[in-house]
Amino acid sequence: MTPRLPQGVLGLHALPADHHEGPWDSIFVPGDLKARLLRHCVLVLRHGRRLAQLAGPPHGLVLLAGPPGTGKSTLAQGLAQRAALAVSDVGATTFVEIDPHAFPSDMLGESQRSVAKLFHETLPELAARRPHLIVLVDEVEALAVRRSTASFETNPVDVHRATDAVLAGVDALRASCPRTIVVTTTNFPAAVDDALLSRTDFVARLDLPDDRTVRRIIEHSLAEIAAVWPAAAAVQSDTPAIAEAAHVLRGFDGRQIRKAVLAALIARDEVAIDPGQLTGQDVVTAARTIAANTTHDGATPPAAVMSNSAAG
Ligand SMILES: Nc1ncnc2c1ncn2[C@@H]1O[C@H](COP(=O)(O)OP(=O)(O)OP(=O)(O)O)[C@@H](O)[C@H]1O
Ligand SMILES: [Mg+2]
Repeated sequence: MTPRLPQGVLGLHALPADHHEGPWDSIFVPGDLKARLLRHCVLVLRHGRRLAQLAGPPHGLVLLAGPPGTGKSTLAQGLAQRAALAVSDVGATTFVEIDPHAFPSDMLGESQRSVAKLFHETLPELAARRPHLIVLVDEVEALAVRRSTASFETNPVDVHRATDAVLAGVDALRASCPRTIVVTTTNFPAAVDDALLSRTDFVARLDLPDDRTVRRIIEHSLAEIAAVWPAAAAVQSDTPAIAEAAHVLRGFDGRQIRKAVLAALIARDEVAIDPGQLTGQDVVTAARTIAANTTHDGATPPAAVMSNSAAG
């Protein structure tokens, strides 16, 4: 039987763990962003206690910001595993996933109280179990709504109080558990409270994939298919088809690109029955179908596109 998780906690893991390998290497971003991100976490996890003596100590807060489907949540998961691995000589890491929607505001003061409990009781208790703590707050704008724009008419006073509680909580957590990293993600940096942004040590902006990244995502997706259906391995060396698909998929997010490769498996009846028969042409066909069925703002859901291509 799985033990009950504390309120607001979606998942609780001891890292490093082999089954958490994968996400980090599956996300491609230009430059040395991943390396810098990892170094920041390792520094705080290893030396948080000493850094706390500085006049401007780190808050241990990381923000991954960017449009939907650009790999924020996956990167955050991978970061937790890799950072835990890098400090494993000192001891293990507790990785806690917070559900930002789990703090109801229908009763006055209730969300404020639950947020305070999370930061002042639950997280310190979890931090006491192992030398390092990594907390993931996905979609942080749900929890720390920007107070300057949240109107008192549409947002109950409770929302403001909850944001205050998050800020006080982050400060308290830093003081009591300096070897803690809080990774936050958002699609709407403009909706995140300014005081939380000010406390953020490291803001990583994930953009839509550039040309090289589009290609790497296609290649990685094809390699994964070939790992499951070795007969499809040859498609990985069809460089012209991969280049053409990458060209067609410029401007799409990483999630849509992976779905386009998936849609290649339904480009023909034979491939759907036996994915080992996948060809480069199927990948190009699927990419074109998706591009043709997507408006410029990327509004058409890929699932609808898949059913279109199945019909046609
Ligand atoms: N830069 C990238 N490189 C490789 N894969 C990517 C990239 N960006 C997105 N993906 C893939 O897209 C899918 C969605 O990624 P993820 O859920 O992490 O995105 P997100 O930014 O958190 O999206 P949302 O804002 O909608 O929550 C995953 O399968 C991931 O592998
Ligand atoms: Mg996400």
